[in-house]
Amino acid sequence: MASITINGVQTEFKVGETILQVANRLQGEGRGKEIPQYCYHDGLSIVASCRICLVEVWTPNLKSGTLEPFMGGKLMPSCQQTASDGMVIYSDSPKAVANQKSVMEYLLINHPLDCPVCDQSGECLLQDYSYAFGRGVSRFEEQKVKQPKKDLGTHVLLYSDRCIMCTRCVRFTREVTGTSELMVQGRGNKEEIDVFPGVPLDNELSANVIDLCPVGALLDKNFLFAQRVWFLKETASIDGITASGDNIRIDHNEGKVYRIKPRTNLKVNKQWISDEIRYGWKWVHSDARLTTPTRLQFGVKVECDHSKAYSDVIAGVKAATSKGKRLAVLISPMLACEEAYVLAKLARTLDPKAILSVGPVPFHGENKTFPIGAKPDDAKAYNVVAEKAPNARGIRRVLNSFGGGDAGGLEHADFLKALGLGTGASDVGAVLLTGNYPSAWASKELRSSLAGKFVTLIDTLAGELEEVANVTLPGATWVEKAGTFENWLGMLQAFDRAIPSSEGAKAEGQHALDLLAVLAGTPEPNEERVSLVVQSSPGQVAAGVTTMLPRGDAYDAAAIRVAMAKVPGLEAFGNEVVLPPVEAMRETDMAVVEL
Ligand code: SF4
Ligand code: FES
Repeated sequence: MASITINGVQTEFKVGETILQVANRLQGEGRGKEIPQYCYHDGLSIVASCRICLVEVWTPNLKSGTLEPFMGGKLMPSCQQTASDGMVIYSDSPKAVANQKSVMEYLLINHPLDCPVCDQSGECLLQDYSYAFGRGVSRFEEQKVKQPKKDLGTHVLLYSDRCIMCTRCVRFTREVTGTSELMVQGRGNKEEIDVFPGVPLDNELSANVIDLCPVGALLDKNFLFAQRVWFLKETASIDGITASGDNIRIDHNEGKVYRIKPRTNLKVNKQWISDEIRYGWKWVHSDARLTTPTRLQFGVKVECDHSKAYSDVIAGVKAATSKGKRLAVLISPMLACEEAYVLAKLARTLDPKAILSVGPVPFHGENKTFPIGAKPDDAKAYNVVAEKAPNARGIRRVLNSFGGGDAGGLEHADFLKALGLGTGASDVGAVLLTGNYPSAWASKELRSSLAGKFVTLIDTLAGELEEVANVTLPGATWVEKAGTFENWLGMLQAFDRAIPSSEGAKAEGQHALDLLAVLAGTPEPNEERVSLVVQSSPGQVAAGVTTMLPRGDAYDAAAIRVAMAKVPGLEAFGNEVVLPPVEAMRETDMAVVEL
């Protein structure tokens, strides 16, 4: 196979690959040097405008068998120049290094020295490249050009004088969304990014331009001055709001989520996420989160501890089943497959004839594909999915493995019929409901069907159901636990826990395991709450949280998947689940000062 040599490292390449793409791959494998790049981005067209990636290229003369300077020795843009067999490339030769220093000096001429107050500080390519490829001193003594700050749209601010005119943002709105809100106006040092008059940056993927901007010019209004990025810890996760299965990264600190960013997965979300997914996590820290178990005592809702709540649940279900009535369990499509498995096991332990059903699956609008006019399976298409729950398919898959007919997984409409909706006839005496939706979810029909039944609710946000539930247990959102979601394309993708459960809350899967432990006679732990120190990275301040001790086995999604894989119908959990990448902790190249 054809090969090239970059900075002394020989490697093969695919036809059509550019030198920079090959170099980036080598660097990802830990075998090559970084070539600086501003205007190049894997998901966009190549314009070769910033000139920082220029390299020295030599090609073999097939007649003489010697190497000759390519194109008469001109430096070539590595992002645009395709690789050809036998090429020898240098990004660290004196000529290439002199260019890097000149470009850095040029870009910094009008750039303000406001790193201490810039949100991009710590993840800025101007900072990184100044350190790695720049001069270290400025020779510019004249006045810098001042440019305005602009409000571009719902989520994005532009600090124009930080812009280096890479045009990534402009190309994104042209090539990925097809909405073309952004443009370059003016010339020379008066050039600015802007929107067209009266047309704000307002598309469903608008905030991706913030990630694309290599400097601090495009900023997120939702993250503005919220946190210094070096304090953030990153956890690989999956969209927990819609059925897209988009790969995301949760940035958090001291048990609090600060932002969500996309992770590249070319089979799912490419390099992007929708604004809905990026900002849809806010309910995780809502003041309306349930934090304490409650029970109805003589018709009045009172707070209680988990032990009392669990014994009430078991007594209520047993009282119903002893009268020949059945238990019906609604498993929300917001929960993970592993939780559905342990909840279904709990249901069948409490009542071997328990009805199992998937919860209501919300839809808003229709599926949309970007760029406008593309087909959903086009190589560069990004899909906004109308189904607003991450795991309806996974829940159905798990419940169907627990038996067919009316004993297997029902759809929500059939669940309501089983509760007696429309007929008033029902053999259900106890109901276990799980919610975990980001907003009110229980229909009038569901609420009216609960009358006369013993109701247990595991949910995250306070709502009307809490008023009628005999026992309410606080659940945990997807960022507070690990698990697996099956997306709209049938892909099983696992995600990690980012932050500890909010105080008093437990993952629904943990509630199920604890209830199973109570049924098995496991004594309650001496202390329900313990203090833990949240894991921190070098140089970070560790944070303490209070968390709940499990009564039964600790909810461990990976261990539950191993057990599930042995169940007929669930073998896919043994060999088809895509695991989150294990990110190596980034090492600092500076000495850490202990505080
Ligand atoms: S605003 Fe950012 S992404 Fe857009 S051209 Fe300027 S530097 Fe590039
Ligand atoms: S990255 Fe090659 S010219 Fe900008």
